[in-house]
Amino acid sequence: MPQTQRPVGVIGVGYVGLVTAVCIAHLGHHVVCLDVDEAKIEALRAGKVPIYEPGLDALMAGARDRLSFTTSYDELCERSRVLFIAVDTPPSPSGDADLSRVERVVRDVSARDGERLLVMKSTVPVGTGDRVLAELESAGAAAIGYVSNPEFLREGAAVDDVLHPDRIVIGAYRERDGDEIQRLFAGIETTVVRTTVPTAEMIKYASNAFLATKISFINEIANVCEVVGADVRAVADGMGLDHRIGPYFLQAGIGYGGSCFPKDVQALKQLAGNSGYHFQLLNAVIEVNHLQKRRVVGKLQERLGGRLRGKHVALLGLTFKPNTDDLREAASIVLASRLRAEGARVTAYDPMVAPGSRADLFPGVEIATGALEALDGADAAILVTEWPELVALDWTVVRERMKGRHVIDGRNVLDAALVTAAGLSYDGIGTVDRTVAAGEPVTSSEAR
Ligand code: UDX
Repeated sequence: MPQTQRPVGVIGVGYVGLVTAVCIAHLGHHVVCLDVDEAKIEALRAGKVPIYEPGLDALMAGARDRLSFTTSYDELCERSRVLFIAVDTPPSPSGDADLSRVERVVRDVSARDGERLLVMKSTVPVGTGDRVLAELESAGAAAIGYVSNPEFLREGAAVDDVLHPDRIVIGAYRERDGDEIQRLFAGIETTVVRTTVPTAEMIKYASNAFLATKISFINEIANVCEVVGADVRAVADGMGLDHRIGPYFLQAGIGYGGSCFPKDVQALKQLAGNSGYHFQLLNAVIEVNHLQKRRVVGKLQERLGGRLRGKHVALLGLTFKPNTDDLREAASIVLASRLRAEGARVTAYDPMVAPGSRADLFPGVEIATGALEALDGADAAILVTEWPELVALDWTVVRERMKGRHVIDGRNVLDAALVTAAGLSYDGIGTVDRTVAAGEPVTSSEAR
C-alpha cells in the first residue's frame, strides 16, 4: 500500500474531515487529525466515532494504528507537511460563506515554521485560494503551497462516496502540488480532474447548485402534476430515461435540506451578486424549496377542515434525510414550527433523535420513543424522512393508534395502496394516488 513519508494532517473532524481522514488511513497512509473540540478528540482517541455514518466505525477500527488525534497545532505541524483543511464554512448573516474558521487555520499553520502544502476540502467561495495565497505571501510564509480538492460526499453514503467517487477534482497553483495529492489518492480508481484553483472551487459550487436546481425543478413539476392529474413519479421515470437528463435527483418531496445544499446555493447566489451578477435561477431554486414545506401545511389545513388549532399532527422522521443524525436545515424544523404557530399539537419520532432532546430546534414538540407512540391519538401524520423503519410501518396498526386518518407522504415513498387499504387517506407530493377516506370532506378543487 502507498505510504507518504510523513503523516497527512486533517484539520477539523466533522463529517467531511473525519471521513476523509479515515479513508486516507484506509488507503495505507498515516493520518494525524486535529480538532479544537477536546471532547471530540478524546472520544476519537477512545475509538468512538462521534457521528452516525454507516461503515465508518468498521473502517476506522481497521485503520486504528494509522490514525492519531490531537488538539495541538504544534504537534500537527511538527509531524505533518500536507494538511487537509475540513472546517465548517457556515452561512454568515449576509448569505456569504463565513470563512473565519478557515482563516484561523491558515493563521495557526503559517505561524509555525516549515514548508507545507494546504489542501482545501471545505467548500469555500471561488477566489478563496487566490486570497489565502496572497495573504500568505504578504505575511512572508511563501513556503506554503495550496491545492483545492473539493469533497462531494453525501452523508449516509460518505465512505462509499470517498472510496468510489465519480471524480476527484484537484486544482493547484503548482503542478507538483497537484501531482502529490493525486498520488495520495492513487488507491482510488476514478477520473481525476486537474485544473486551476478557482475552477476547482467553482466545480463544487456549480455541482451542488445544479443538483439543488434539479430537486426544485422536479418539485415544481410535482406541483403542476397535482393540478393537471399527472403523476410526478412516472414523469420523473420517463424523463430520467433520457441520458442527457439522467434518473438521479428527480425525487419530488418536501424539499432539500442538510448542511450543504441550502448553504452552498445561497453562497453561490451571493458570490455572483457580490461580483454584480444577478443569478436569477438560483433565487427561484431557493424560493421553491422554501415554499415546498409550506405547501404541506396548506394541504393539511385543507384535509383537516381549514384549521390546525387543537389538532394533533405526528411527524415521522426529523433528520434531513435517512441514515444520518444530521438535523441541519431539515424540513422538519420548518414544518414543526409552522404547525406549532398554527396552534397544532406536534409529536414526532426519529430513530436518531432522543425524547427530550433538541428542544432548541423543536420547541414545544413532544419527541416520542417510537413511531406508534408519536402517532397515538394523532389527527394526521406526515412522513418527513424516509427512514426504512417508517416506510415499512404496518398501516393497519397505525390506523388503530391514530384518531384521524390523514397521512401525507412528504417523500413519495409509501405504498399508497397499503395506506388506503388500512382505512387511511393518502396524499403524496404530485402523485395521482391521492385518496380520501370515507366520510372525509371533499374540497372544491377535488369536486371540480
Ligand atoms: C449533498 C451532495 O449530494 C454532496 O455531493 C455534497 O458534497 C454535499 O451535499 P448531502 O447533503 O449529504 O450531500 O445529501 P443528499 O443525499 O445529496 O441530499 C440532499 C437533500 O436533497 C436531502 O434533504 C434530500 O432529501 C434531498 N433530495 C435529494 C430530494 O429532495 N430529492 C432528490 O431527488 C434527492
